[in-house]
Amino acid sequence: MKQTYLTLNNKLEIPQFGFGVYMIMGDDNTRNACLEAFKQGYRHIDTAHAYQNERGVGQAIKESGISREDIWITSKLWPSDYGKGITTQAIDNMLKRLDTDYIDLLLLHQQFGQYIDAWKEMEQAVKEGKVKAIGLSNFESERLEEVLSIASIYPAVIQVECHPYYQQRQLEERVKPYGTFIESWYPIGHGDQGLINEPLFSELAMKYNKTNVQIILRWHIQENRIVFPKSTNPTHIKENIDIFDFELTKEEMSSISKLDKGIRFFNMSLEDQEKQLGSFTPAD
Ligand SMILES: NC(=O)c1ccc[n+]([C@@H]2O[C@H](COP(=O)([O-])OP(=O)(O)OC[C@H]3O[C@@H](n4cnc5c(N)ncnc54)[C@H](OP(=O)(O)O)[C@@H]3O)[C@@H](O)[C@H]2O)c1
Repeated sequence: MKQTYLTLNNKLEIPQFGFGVYMIMGDDNTRNACLEAFKQGYRHIDTAHAYQNERGVGQAIKESGISREDIWITSKLWPSDYGKGITTQAIDNMLKRLDTDYIDLLLLHQQFGQYIDAWKEMEQAVKEGKVKAIGLSNFESERLEEVLSIASIYPAVIQVECHPYYQQRQLEERVKPYGTFIESWYPIGHGDQGLINEPLFSELAMKYNKTNVQIILRWHIQENRIVFPKSTNPTHIKENIDIFDFELTKEEMSSISKLDKGIRFFNMSLEDQEKQLGSFTPAD
């Protein structure tokens, strides 16, 4: 198994493949899942304040015995963490929860609230060495333009829903001039069976002696996306990272490109998101 890396717009090297811990409930379950992932060679964890499991991530890192600099931690600030003075404090609290001196990549999780003030304080946190790289998540409206217009550090990544049914080509073109990579959330459609069982993936799985999920994950890698499927199943955890010993051909990549149907699995209007997500305040 040979992990691949991408060079971010600040020259840092990010492991292109990682482990997502969204909907792994509680610190104990998260700790166990991360320890299993580390055992299988994962070295990149994607968490968030809103997932309420950052302490479990921190515990797993300590317990794994792997050096801190060999593990990449991404976490995300929730809108309740945005604002003058508020964001700096929220970053300090996050460092404590993760039990670490620095966060490799810190994202604004949602495009609501005082995100401009938050971005400026994240830039300050980079200067102070508390955070190595910063980026955005779910900024797909004109609010992305607003951040780009005030940024003195351009987003290293933008984390959005992305899979073969929703390939994010327009966003990819928009952020290319900034050297910003797409990070794919719902990379296997949140486990959607229709997507996983697409006949093309079954055909390629047969050819390469892989599973359909491995074909989809390999497609993300060859598209230069950063990808971190979630699983609490040790068989899946092992299977998902076993994608570095084969390569899809150009023709196969372009056949998968044709599956783009503009279908999202997360469907909520911006207004409803703002109402529902904006009313949530994660506990410290
Ligand atoms: N920024 C955002 O707003 C945002 C939103 C959503 C997600 N994310 C990030 O993206 C990560 C991944 O997204 P996600 O967890 O929602 O969806 P996902 O990774 O696309 O799918 C996870 C689902 O697929 C199943 N699965 C995993 N490996 C499998 C395999 N090899 N074969 C069959 N089924 C498999 C999992 O079940 P088992 O556990 O049983 O394996 C789980 O039900 C999250 O954990 C999080 O870090 C970010």
